[in-house]
Amino acid sequence: MVHEIDLSVNVAGIKMQNPVMVASGTFGFGNEYGDFYDINKLGALVTKGLTLLPREGNPPPRIHETPAGMLNSVGLENPGVQKFIEEEWPRLSQLKVPVIANISGDTVDDYYKIAKQLSSLENLAALEINISCPNVAKGGLAFGQEPQSAFEVVKAVREATQLPIIAKLSPNVTHIQEIAKAAVDAGADALSLINTLLGMAIDIHSAKPVFHRTFAGLSGPAVKPVALRMVWEVYEAVQVPIIGMGGITSWQDAVEFILAGASAVAIGTANFVNPMAPIEIIEGLKTFLYLQETKLQDLIGAAHQ
Ligand SMILES: Cc1cc2nc3c(=O)[nH]c(=O)nc-3n(C[C@H](O)[C@H](O)[C@H](O)COP(=O)(O)O)c2cc1C
Repeated sequence: MVHEIDLSVNVAGIKMQNPVMVASGTFGFGNEYGDFYDINKLGALVTKGLTLLPREGNPPPRIHETPAGMLNSVGLENPGVQKFIEEEWPRLSQLKVPVIANISGDTVDDYYKIAKQLSSLENLAALEINISCPNVAKGGLAFGQEPQSAFEVVKAVREATQLPIIAKLSPNVTHIQEIAKAAVDAGADALSLINTLLGMAIDIHSAKPVFHRTFAGLSGPAVKPVALRMVWEVYEAVQVPIIGMGGITSWQDAVEFILAGASAVAIGTANFVNPMAPIEIIEGLKTFLYLQETKLQDLIGAAHQ
């Protein structure tokens, strides 16, 4: 029976009932989506990006639609780690699904400090290190574009915590395998990819870039083929589990990422278009496995054989 299909997966010690997560920055702290469905049905929830101190984010506009996705320049608006712990964690810690904190910093020391602070939280499932944010002036993306700096950030977080570490990689690089290997060498237990691709838009009436920071992050269906290619490449380069994301809107997309090597997938921009997307994808995966008479484990990376 379809409802008996086992979708559970263990990603670097994070036990999930199914492989469908929500991507950082597209689900807030999970407050809003509870109106649409029971968020305990997800595989895991990833918080929006947290920084040591509160951040106001970038001035508007922050979002711009494109034909097959969106550009965003949110700039990591968040309350800061201390307020997160005081105001969001009491509720999040009661969830039955694993909660993963996504962290960012301007310096290696920022990452160390925030990781140390979050490590004290009981029940926190893992840290996802964002070394790939294109929308901030310092840190972020810069750490994810050089193997050496990726190594240093992940190593600092490794020294700060016993929690599983997921390094989130940027697609804005020439050789993603090199960055992936550096992150794993430094102690990452899993990798997630991809973050947004650098893009831009120009307002033809003002003859100026739409965004104050000129460039912004492209996400949604437009980036899916790039994301899939990168998951494929990274799967061939490292042994740790991969969380695949970038333009996933349907269960068929999710199956493609799993066949390319992802042990789990994350749904991002699709949440804005169809809040039920993660639940529909979970159901679609179940039916697919049932009809194919196969197991999730047997699909992971199967397209490489
Ligand atoms: C509005 C918005 C905010 C985001 N904020 C974060 C963030 O804080 N930290 C992070 O690691 N990724 C962030 N991302 C990237 C997503 O988690 C995801 O990696 C990317 O959007 C690709 O997946 P998608 O095409 O399914 O959206 C953000 C994406 C969007 C669209």
